[in-house]
This record gives sequence, structure tokens and C-alpha cells, in this order.
Amino acid sequence: MEKNFTDQNIIASWNQNSQAWITTLDNGYIESRKVATNAAILEAVLRHHPRKVLDMGCGEGWLCRQLDDQGVETLGIDCAETLIANAADKRRLRFVCASYEQLLEGEPVVTEKFEVIVFNYALFGEAHTPAILQLVQHWLEPGGRVIIQTLDPQHPAFADRTEAGWIQEDWAAMQTVYPSAMPWFYRPLPDWLDLFEQLGYSLENTTPVAHPEHKSRISVIFTLVKSK
Ligand SMILES: C[S@@+](CC[C@H](N)C(=O)[O-])C[C@H]1O[C@@H](n2cnc3c(N)ncnc32)[C@H](O)[C@@H]1O
Repeated sequence: MEKNFTDQNIIASWNQNSQAWITTLDNGYIESRKVATNAAILEAVLRHHPRKVLDMGCGEGWLCRQLDDQGVETLGIDCAETLIANAADKRRLRFVCASYEQLLEGEPVVTEKFEVIVFNYALFGEAHTPAILQLVQHWLEPGGRVIIQTLDPQHPAFADRTEAGWIQEDWAAMQTVYPSAMPWFYRPLPDWLDLFEQLGYSLENTTPVAHPEHKSRISVIFTLVKSK
């Protein structure tokens, strides 16, 4: 395990990698997104027939655009200015540049409630993950859902990791150059489940997402509701 990272390193890496990420998504370079995970998160959100969705860590805004196509109102928030500018250029939806940390400090970005709050591969931090999951509870309509898609903690690639800790994504598998490695905080499945319980969430659904052909597990989608 790598050590000595903080959530600020994650923000810094996305600021440096924004253009590479846009190139990656514009060209459909991530196969798992095309064949499975984009459709899976869209379906997981639309299943709840939301009127309004908050897309946290929205990146260049693809999920907001897909939801807009289905008549769903969206607000997308991300810490990377270049990504937010690109999202707003691609479609005139509501996008705001703010980090989770700024929201946690009380920046008044969110002043409404949502039926669904979604994090699609956007919860990488050690400190901000529990904190932002707690904060967003205030922005949920009664009976609303928090939906998280993340790398499957039980993927064989993490078989030797029994404890939570930092990992560096070096983007070596990408078809475009990423200027900065991205540290992210790995949590084994029991740690995720404990976290949800500590924060007062019930886990309504856990959906493993597999590759349609070779059936290997790619991601997992957690659907959470506030416990009574
Ligand atoms: C792997 S990308 C996913 C983007 C988008 N959700 C998607 O599905 O394409 C992770 C996103 O999380 C954002 N992010 C990471 N840390 C953040 C933070 N502390 N506050 C806000 N956004 C953050 C990054 O800027 C990046 O856009």
C-alpha cells in the first residue's frame, strides 16, 4: 500500500488530468463503460423515476446529458474547472465547479433537494467519502436514494488487500497520456458496509456489474436509503 496521500492529492490530479479524461470519454476509450457500467448506472438511477438528480463528481457531464435525454432535471458538481467548462459547453445544463471539501465547508452550492444523488466513480477520498456521504443526506427528498458506482472491492486485482489504504492509479492502461497519477483510497467491502451503517444508511441494493462477454466483475453499484 502507498501511504502519505491526502484527498487534496486527488483534486490536484484531476485538475491535471482533465483534458486527458475528456479525450478518453469523447473517444470512448474505456471499454467497460461502453459495454456495461454506463448503462448500469443509468438504469440504477432511472429505476427510481427521479424528477431531479444531483450528479456528484460529474466530470465532463455525460450522465447529466443522458438523464436530460430522459427528461430528468440535473445538477452536476465537480472540483475540476476544465471538466465543468467542458460539460457546460457540451450541453447547457446546470453545472457548478466546487469540491466536496468546499461543500463541506458550507459553500452554498446546493439549495434544493433531489430524489437521487449519484456518485459514478467519484468517491476516492479517505476523509471526504464519509463526510460527503453524511452531508448529502440533507439534500435528499424523503425516500430519496444515494447511488454509488465504484470499482468492485472484491475484484481479483484487490485479492491481496485485506485492509483499507491508498493505491496509485498510473493510468498505464489508457490510450492517452495522463500527466498525473491519481491516488485513491481503497476500502474492502466490509469497510464500505460499516461506513453506510455508521452514517445512518440502509443498503437497499448491491448490484455487481460484470463484463457481458467474459463475465469478469467490473464494478459494484450500492443503492442507499436513509435509515429511519
Ligand atoms: C473517474 S471521474 C468520474 C467522472 C464522472 N462521474 C463520470 O462518470 O464520468 C472522477 C471525478 O471525480 C471528481 N472529483 C474527485 N475528487 C473530487 C472532490 N474532492 N470534489 C469534487 N469532485 C471530485 C473528479 O474531478 C472527476 O471528475
